Amino acid sequence: MTIKTLTHHDRTEMSVDEIYAELSEKLGAFTPDFELRIKAELAHEINRLKRERNAVILGHNYMEPALYHSIPDFVGDSLGLSRKAAQTDKDVIVFCGVRFMAETAKILNPARTVLLPSEKAGCSLAESITAEDVRGLRRRFPGVPVVTYVNTYADVKAESDICCTSSNAAAVVESLDADAVIFLPDEYLARNVARETGKHIIFPVKTPHGLHMDDHIDYQMIGWHGRCEVHEKFSVQDIEMVRAQFPDVVVLAHPECSPDVVDAADFSGSTNAMIRFVEEMDAPRYLLLTECAMGDNIAAANPHKEMVRLCSVRCPHMNEITLEQTRDALLYNQYVIEVPEDIRVRAYRAVERMLAIG
Ligand code: 13P
Ligand code: SF4
Repeated sequence: MTIKTLTHHDRTEMSVDEIYAELSEKLGAFTPDFELRIKAELAHEINRLKRERNAVILGHNYMEPALYHSIPDFVGDSLGLSRKAAQTDKDVIVFCGVRFMAETAKILNPARTVLLPSEKAGCSLAESITAEDVRGLRRRFPGVPVVTYVNTYADVKAESDICCTSSNAAAVVESLDADAVIFLPDEYLARNVARETGKHIIFPVKTPHGLHMDDHIDYQMIGWHGRCEVHEKFSVQDIEMVRAQFPDVVVLAHPECSPDVVDAADFSGSTNAMIRFVEEMDAPRYLLLTECAMGDNIAAANPHKEMVRLCSVRCPHMNEITLEQTRDALLYNQYVIEVPEDIRVRAYRAVERMLAIG
């Protein structure tokens, strides 16, 4: 299961003082008190608006700590949150995450109003490929199934046979009864999946005359050159430096990191898999090679475990989502996510096929 409910009681009923007390307990060690007070007031207002609008708030694991620990009804990774979006009967889904996640919610549950609190919350992977790029690959490799990472926009999903997330990518590739697959658009995730599944991989080069590649190589996976602008920053040298200083450190890397980094780490998995791993492991110290806010969120939930920081690495898109923006989303009904119905129906097939795999 890739989702967890934040509290056993209904958080929307909490007073400002109760929210403040909870935030203080979890975040007081590294957040100024006046900031927690302001954020508690904002969270209280958001909870009131959430009740008024009959809304559900979904929060990705990369949300900043005060938001993560106060307003979401559910927190989780891309896969878990898309399941929650598909299941909800609330009128409004506020997606505290990035655009492709909010679009996936709309694809799965079109009768709801889906709000993304910032217009600027994009993703470098989603920007790296267009629907026409996918059509070009299909022309070049007729009959080869297309697996698309969920970190893409709806029109790209609509050109795909099946989607995947970081938590099920290898399972999705292995579920296809095919000699070869096209896997888009994350180069590093594709390389990591190719290694995990024992497949050979090539990357076509885009030229003015179309797609170019060496036809004589034996390959079963065709990739693309998209990169996550956050995870591509981590290097093996980072790991070596931290290991030299803290020999007992346990290193976790998201599969959007390069294969060398994943190799040098002790564990690789989706954001939820990393959270679970730290919760279940007994080691005193962890290095998380992923978005920095998640390290703060794990530290808050596991006060006796130390998170070693490389904290200049924040996702600028996830960072766009603040408590203020979330309040305004509910107040002013912004920013409404729309997906044209012909695209939605085709994208739905690819996402639903993935969800059926589990
Ligand atoms: P998860 O599916 O692991 O949450 O990853 C989403 C993402 O955008 C990671 O950068
Ligand atoms: Fe996209 Fe990377 Fe940000 Fe995730 S961390 S939303 S993959 S840019």
